Amino acid sequence: MARTRWRMGFHLMPPVGWLNDPNGLCQFRGTYHVFHQYSPDWPAPNAPRGWGHFTSEDLVHWRHHGMAIAPDTPEEATGSYSGCAVVMPGAASDGGDRLRLYYTGNVKEPGDFDYIRTGRRATQILIESDDAMSLGSKRVILRNEDYPSNCTCHVRDPKVWRGEGRWWMILGARDTSDRGIILLMSSEDGVAWTVANELRSSEPFGYMWECPDRIVLDGRTYLSFCPQGMEGLPWANGMRDQSGYAPLPEGSDLSTPGVSIDTGAFRRWDAGFDFYAPQTFVDESGRTVLIGWMGMPEAPFESAPDGLPWCHCLTVPRVLTRLDDGAIAQTPVPELERLREAEELLIAPGTMVFSGQRADIELTGIEGPLRLTLDGGLEIAFDGHELSCTFTEGADALGAGRTRRALPLDRMGDLRVLVDGSAVEIFAEGGRAVMSTRWFPVADALSVTIEGTCASARAWRMGDGMTGSVDA
Ligand code: FRU
Repeated sequence: MARTRWRMGFHLMPPVGWLNDPNGLCQFRGTYHVFHQYSPDWPAPNAPRGWGHFTSEDLVHWRHHGMAIAPDTPEEATGSYSGCAVVMPGAASDGGDRLRLYYTGNVKEPGDFDYIRTGRRATQILIESDDAMSLGSKRVILRNEDYPSNCTCHVRDPKVWRGEGRWWMILGARDTSDRGIILLMSSEDGVAWTVANELRSSEPFGYMWECPDRIVLDGRTYLSFCPQGMEGLPWANGMRDQSGYAPLPEGSDLSTPGVSIDTGAFRRWDAGFDFYAPQTFVDESGRTVLIGWMGMPEAPFESAPDGLPWCHCLTVPRVLTRLDDGAIAQTPVPELERLREAEELLIAPGTMVFSGQRADIELTGIEGPLRLTLDGGLEIAFDGHELSCTFTEGADALGAGRTRRALPLDRMGDLRVLVDGSAVEIFAEGGRAVMSTRWFPVADALSVTIEGTCASARAWRMGDGMTGSVDA
């Protein structure tokens, strides 16, 4: 396995190749499974994507198992695209649980597939398994002709759940009037599906919605989705692709007749440079956990620096909770603290130098403005009105021209910063404000400078949770 200082100790990345969206997240028969969009042959041009596969018993120590779903049927010739996992209690032949994986088979054909119903085949595929390792045969369950006639060929990324005695599926779609929409499908058995509804936003909001997800927190339903075509909005930093969530009206669900998405209530999941296509799952203890892709379709870098043979990673798993004003807080799963090794002396205000590149930094009881700088070059600052993350010149070995990201925040009592080989995740004010960013530091040891005061400043060197990979 390629081991360099920019590889991660606790952010998932395959041993080689390209990773994008997290897929099929679940805890199944006790084990956590994280599948992901995977091109092991990257950077070979046009390498089709399949599903790679990680497992963990504790959400901290992970093994990679190589390609789980290969794009090896005519329905997925240009990729086995994103999708989800559903656990079917007691449905396996041994009386235990059965796993179902739903995903999109993608085939790009010549033609203008953006506006018309030809040029791309978007097929929804189902695979079953009783152990999540040996996967059953692929069953085509939906084809282009099954979608409403006002849909283009962009229909993908199924997320499935059970409710009201039925199975429900949402698919992200682009309609022929160039608006992002959600298709709601329903089914008795999870195999034969019919269109139940089309969900739209109150106002036009991008031309395509990718990776939809349904989240229920404290009885309130949220739609999470990734609208494309957002670059003109004031908060979008000129980026086409965004990801966020909106609460549905109190008492309604995605199947409620007439329900629509209030774009005025849309909040971004993460205001950093590198975050997209998150997916959630409910684990066996009932927590709702989110994992995102720490990358962007329009990233300023298509390749890792120095010709490294791997590109992109996932965020750490984050527990979701609903705040009083309806916002969703994200906090790293507490299991991550098991990777904390020696506690290093952190002085606020002051500077310390870590012996490695991996750190968990936690400040509490912050009063007033505060600035935390990594390696003198990546500044995380709160000024009383906003949280910001800024690369100063020369701080990023990638030279990707990244400068500043910010989001409004009127109070910051605490700050947690996770630093891995080439990833930084920032959680402020109990996870109300979150920023994720790749960075490629040039220094051998990590230096942390704090300007400002807080009641407690603690920092730990972090261990390595990548316990090996079957395909290394
Ligand atoms: C989001 C996405 C999905 C698609 C997948 C393909 O990043 O474009 O809509 O299924 O990536 O890799």
